[in-house]
Amino acid sequence: MATRNGNNNNNKKRAAGIALVAALAALAVVAPAVEAAPAKAVTTAPKPFELPKNPVSKVNVSFGSKDISVAGVTVKKPVWSQTINLKQVDPTRKNVFWTRLTFDATQTKLRKPKKAPTTAAWGADQPGDVIRITSVLDKAVQYLNADSLAQWSFQSAFFNGPAVTVELLADPNADAKVKPAVIVTSVTTNDEDGFSADPINLPPPTTLCNAADLRKPVTDLRNGRIFPVGCTGWTINDKTGCHTSAGHCFDGVDATQQVLQVSVPQSAVIVKDGVKVGIPRHPDPKYQFAVDASSVQYKLLSELDVDNAVDAEDWSYFGTFRNPNTGLTQREAANNQSYTLAKVTNGVIAPGQSAVGDVVTITGFGNVRDQARKNLRLTQQTATGSLASFPDKYHINHRVDTEGGNSGSAMVVKKNGKEIAIGIHTNGGCDTTSSTSANYGSSVNQRGYQAALAAPKGVCKA
Ligand SMILES: *[C@@H]1O[C@H](CO)[C@@H](O)[C@H](O)[C@H]1NC(C)=O
Ligand SMILES: *[C@@H]1O[C@H](CO)[C@@H](O)[C@H](O)[C@H]1NC(C)=O
Repeated sequence: MATRNGNNNNNKKRAAGIALVAALAALAVVAPAVEAAPAKAVTTAPKPFELPKNPVSKVNVSFGSKDISVAGVTVKKPVWSQTINLKQVDPTRKNVFWTRLTFDATQTKLRKPKKAPTTAAWGADQPGDVIRITSVLDKAVQYLNADSLAQWSFQSAFFNGPAVTVELLADPNADAKVKPAVIVTSVTTNDEDGFSADPINLPPPTTLCNAADLRKPVTDLRNGRIFPVGCTGWTINDKTGCHTSAGHCFDGVDATQQVLQVSVPQSAVIVKDGVKVGIPRHPDPKYQFAVDASSVQYKLLSELDVDNAVDAEDWSYFGTFRNPNTGLTQREAANNQSYTLAKVTNGVIAPGQSAVGDVVTITGFGNVRDQARKNLRLTQQTATGSLASFPDKYHINHRVDTEGGNSGSAMVVKKNGKEIAIGIHTNGGCDTTSSTSANYGSSVNQRGYQAALAAPKGVCKA
């Protein structure tokens, strides 16, 4: 048994080895990392990071056109169009529920207008040539010009279905002698071929506190699914409306690939080998926000990395770009709602804001093991439980049901009718058979997190 004060370094080192193997596997497909982070009151170890298994694969394609003719264009209009259907590219591929295009960054050429516009415009009106991508299945659309395509790291939003139509809208105000180009080199999709069953089998659950799983669907635009890593991020009351999540959601993860998705629809459910599987579906691109990699600050110092558990940190602070369809920031799209962070004075959460026994609410995009509720897998759900203990001044134990994918969720308490975010959920550990077991997370007064908030980067700078 591991304790937080740790006199079992051999066990800890072994656990670190397992975590490394898991992290390497995560480069190919997003696999759950397993880490030991037990708390004093807890006798079950190790505690899993709350990451879901979320298989993703990339298919190389040769798609698009160079030297697209823009002769005689006097109004912004489509001059080129092509539909890509992953089922035609690879007929052996089954159950393609979503697709994401990767454009070639050097060969794709979108012209800018000769004269830069004085007012911001969005959607098809973004200045210069605009790529319009439309899902054949649900007609969802995303518009990207040279600037927004770069912000999206030359990738599209996530679209439902196997087929999308790509069009080029030529700008009459750009140089007609320059011919634009649209080149797509790969399509990312949910991975059916590499699929294996969810490794977190019942029993024993190590993250649910209640066998019934008390989480219920909710729509709260302050919370988003970080995809494809499979975490939860939430919008805070800083100057710019940036977000908070766990550190392990960015550790070893390519931030340029990550998108914060709000208003997430229910998942598709397929039956594989007699077992129901929930596969994520995606919200309209107006509810998808590309992560600004230059804004990301995070720390992951697990209990394996530090001499004293009190020094472990697991948090992230990051921003997302304005939505290219609407021009709104994620917080504006959420009607300017955000979470209020607990007040921190002299390095501690100021008195009166949280106490053992408080009702804690956790809302996030967790895995669902219940076969009857696979449609809710990695969709937004909320649950309440008790604040179990403060193992030290930088960590919080709670008894709220969570699953992989809940990592990064806000731990919220209500004081005088006001919601206060006191922590960041990071690890499982609850056991349905033990009332003293608990899930676990970082307190918002962690030193690194406070320092990051005080020195925002990228789009998080006001
Ligand atoms: C896909 O393209 C990438 C980049 O050009 C290349 O490294 C990789 O080997 C290709 N994969 C397949 C299966 O052809
Ligand atoms: C959000 O705040 C901005 C800036 O103060 C304001 O322009 C906008 O109208 C607000 N949106 C909503 C939905 O309240």
